[in-house]
Amino acid sequence: MSINILAIETSCDETSAAVVRDGRVVLSNIIFSQVKQHEVFGGVVPEIASRKHVEVVIPIIDLALSEAAPFLCGTTSNAAPTATVADSSATLAAQTATTTAHAMPPAPAASAASAAHAIPAALAAPAAYAVPAAPALYDSTELLRNARPCVPGGSSPQIALNSIDAVAVTYGPGLAGALLTGLAAAKGLAFSLGKPLIGVNHIEGHICAAYLEYPELAPPFTALVVSGGHSHIYYVPGYREYELMGRTRDDAAGEAFDKIARAGGLGYPGGPKLSRAAADGDPEAFSFPRVRFGSGSYDFSFSGPKTAALNQLNKLKNIYSDNIPGNIMASFFSSFQAAVVDILVENVTQAELTKNTGKIVVVGGVAANTLLREKLTQSGINNRISIFCPPPALCTDNAAMIGSAAYFKYSSRQLSSMELNAIPGASLDCSG
Ligand code: KG4
Ligand code: ZN
Repeated sequence: MSINILAIETSCDETSAAVVRDGRVVLSNIIFSQVKQHEVFGGVVPEIASRKHVEVVIPIIDLALSEAAPFLCGTTSNAAPTATVADSSATLAAQTATTTAHAMPPAPAASAASAAHAIPAALAAPAAYAVPAAPALYDSTELLRNARPCVPGGSSPQIALNSIDAVAVTYGPGLAGALLTGLAAAKGLAFSLGKPLIGVNHIEGHICAAYLEYPELAPPFTALVVSGGHSHIYYVPGYREYELMGRTRDDAAGEAFDKIARAGGLGYPGGPKLSRAAADGDPEAFSFPRVRFGSGSYDFSFSGPKTAALNQLNKLKNIYSDNIPGNIMASFFSSFQAAVVDILVENVTQAELTKNTGKIVVVGGVAANTLLREKLTQSGINNRISIFCPPPALCTDNAAMIGSAAYFKYSSRQLSSMELNAIPGASLDCSG
């Protein structure tokens, strides 16, 4: 019998909900990026992130249920749905564009729209639509109106909910207020449905993203998790087994990208912008240190290359009186990117060679980096290691990866109680 899990992810600046079948098949994966809210500040503002999660989490869950409904309620063949990732951020962005001018609907109108789609009481709770002080980014009533019913006259979110076996949610690591938003939504749903609640560690979620993209992938393997908050290497001998082999001693790789991007005037989010700005640069124009801690250590340090890059940037600003030519900046970014990528590739390759599983899994937001993917592929060819790197939409934060991780906990009956709390500094071990 198939197990369908509704998953919620709100650990940082993406609000996401997904429905995942048997830990491997993505039935829906809705991702609302808060980039627009934070870019004006040059980084994620925790309070704004929490408020935005509160505003959008219910409509996002509703969309995820609607999109999964055809697979859940039998109107579409149950044979492996082809919808692997339905990243609807574009849809939401379009929604934003068409509805920005609209005022947030008054509470009764929101309730009416909810009723039309027969949103269960738990979802339609007026408090969930509390109007934020700031102008709403989009009109959630409109969003609900556009949710596609899977049965004529029926209500897709309601039907989808009936087919859900458990509700999963990220409990940490992440921003406390942001995590609490997802936890509150998940607990309310699990309680009202009488279904199990499963708390998932965000890092474990990132690793499990690989199971979604590669149905044949199974442990053992070596995993590199590189995100805005983490640069970790794990040996994964079995499902839900993680042995830490290396970690950053200072900044995470994504954090280093974000800082250099900001210093270089690219703004937030830094990683993807830096990667684009580096495209036509010369990666050997500037020499930044590749820190290694000697044989047997797979730890990282990115503060060395970061400080060297900041010093180089100051020199360039002095030379060019703050008007550095574009091609020189491209080479500056390209050289920094090359230094970070070289360290990541070298350490994870060496770690894998000691374990000799023949497999490296690369996940987390930085795994979306094209140079990293290329260099790892080359290292894999040179060392006869298969590289498993999910597509960018599954590398950056998303709820489908949480749904996958939750399945393996569900299978071993590792369920959570309603006491489940946010753990902002949670580390990855098998107890949680
Ligand atoms: O996993 P993620 O979405 O959120 C965290 O759990 O932190 O990772 C976000 C990080 C950010 O630091 C972002 O700059 C970085 O991933 N990132 C990238 C790229 N896309 C996202 N870094 C380098 N190149 C990219 N293409
Ligand atoms: Zn993440």
